[in-house]
Amino acid sequence: MNRLVIVSNRVPMPSAGTQAGGLAVALDGLMEKRGGLWFGWSGAVMPADAGRAAMVEHRDLVDYATIDLTQEEHDRYYNAFSNGVLWPLLHTMPELMQYDRRDARVYREVNARLAVALLPLLRPSDLIWVHDYHLMPLPSALRARGVRNPIGFFLHIPFCAPDVLAAAPEMTELVRDLLAADLIGFQTDNDVANFAAAAQMLAGAVRGPGNSLFFAGRRVRLGVFPVEIEARSFARTAIEMTASPAVRRLRRSLDGQRLILGVERLDPTKGLLQRLAGLRRLLEKRQDWCGHVTTVQIAATSRKGVDSYRALRAALDREAGALNADLGEPDWQPLRMVVHGVDRATVAGYMRQARVGMVTPLRDGMNLVAKEFVAAQDPADPGVLVLSRFAGAARQLEAALLVNPHDPDAMADALDGALRMGLEERQARWRALWAVIEHRSPLVWGRSFVAALLRTAALHDGQSAAGACCRPPANARALRHGCRWSGSGRKWNRQCWPRW
Ligand code: G6P
Repeated sequence: MNRLVIVSNRVPMPSAGTQAGGLAVALDGLMEKRGGLWFGWSGAVMPADAGRAAMVEHRDLVDYATIDLTQEEHDRYYNAFSNGVLWPLLHTMPELMQYDRRDARVYREVNARLAVALLPLLRPSDLIWVHDYHLMPLPSALRARGVRNPIGFFLHIPFCAPDVLAAAPEMTELVRDLLAADLIGFQTDNDVANFAAAAQMLAGAVRGPGNSLFFAGRRVRLGVFPVEIEARSFARTAIEMTASPAVRRLRRSLDGQRLILGVERLDPTKGLLQRLAGLRRLLEKRQDWCGHVTTVQIAATSRKGVDSYRALRAALDREAGALNADLGEPDWQPLRMVVHGVDRATVAGYMRQARVGMVTPLRDGMNLVAKEFVAAQDPADPGVLVLSRFAGAARQLEAALLVNPHDPDAMADALDGALRMGLEERQARWRALWAVIEHRSPLVWGRSFVAALLRTAALHDGQSAAGACCRPPANARALRHGCRWSGSGRKWNRQCWPRW
């Protein structure tokens, strides 16, 4: 079995004892079972003159190798460019972007440094799987240093339309960098379509058969791989946590009121201000809910080094305060907002208490909280998921109440409908949602990506491994009929293109 090398900005180091967000949750199980190398940033900031080789830690079957960043690298690569430019842009929020070409330069330099540090750790038969927007230049940085192993890339966040993408001058080059991978995975078919359009319009790639592109003499496969959760084990945790002190305290404090629950990082893409506007509209339009429903919003502070996150925190403080002041009573407040993180198990228990789960991002790659909310419910008396149409999860969780988070009346109506929904409809919707997530898992997700990467590499007839060239046939009809052509120079072989 080929060794799997995962490369991600954050690495869940065993010594740190914590998990690093949804990405780590998705990949941990796969690495635990399969073993391999996990490489990326240590999470630490070092003095500018410290050593630059990777530090390696070993646990069970996994080697964790990391490098530190300097303060300037951290500020420009992580805060300014990854989270201040790419994150808002790819979420179609270019107005939040603060572009500075010096940040773009350092972003590229850090990726080059990661490539240099990874190089001596690689073996010829490794499969390399690069993750997320922090590392878009990495596939080409590795190829430039002679790496011929199969390279897969997965984007955990959305990919925006090409005209939005063009707002940052770097993007054409970054799309080209990504095209150095063999397989590029996305959360939804919408993201694939946007990337394929950008690759053609901005980078000059040519459409190939199925979901593939030809670029610079190579064929690149695109695929949809929606990230999943371990639904059964999350459900078990939710049941176990029902009796935990934290969940019992929350239940007591509700004193029979219905609970609306929101859980996310404090992030401009999550639609938190719009959610509070929807909540305000609900309580103004349907005053009978006042005193009978409480919203708990966990908005865990993150990325404090980015201006738009700090501005959002200030705006949320203002709006939450105004909501409670305008609509609250001496013995009742509509909203409890918490900006620190709450551990996942306790959140599972809270979710099981909730009548409504509000997951209303303005844009989201997938949103695993939506899936977790479904998993946490009691099938005999389930809560209702109110889900933004603009979350990737909405493409799978169609039995949720789907809303447009920009429309406060629609949000208020959905909340009202969810709070009033009878048991039968709640059960029917829950069953339909559970059926979607029940048999999937992050392990299956990871394995299917790795299997696709292996197939892609095999189909390329060693294109990456041997550096052989592969170019589109002149005959466009062959492409349309789902055939692939391979070979080099004048000799081209026609083979059937498997659809997967
Ligand atoms: C999203 C991204 C991940 C990231 C996580 C937490 O899920 O897709 O790549 O790790 O947010 O954000 P942070 O900036 O704290 O790593």
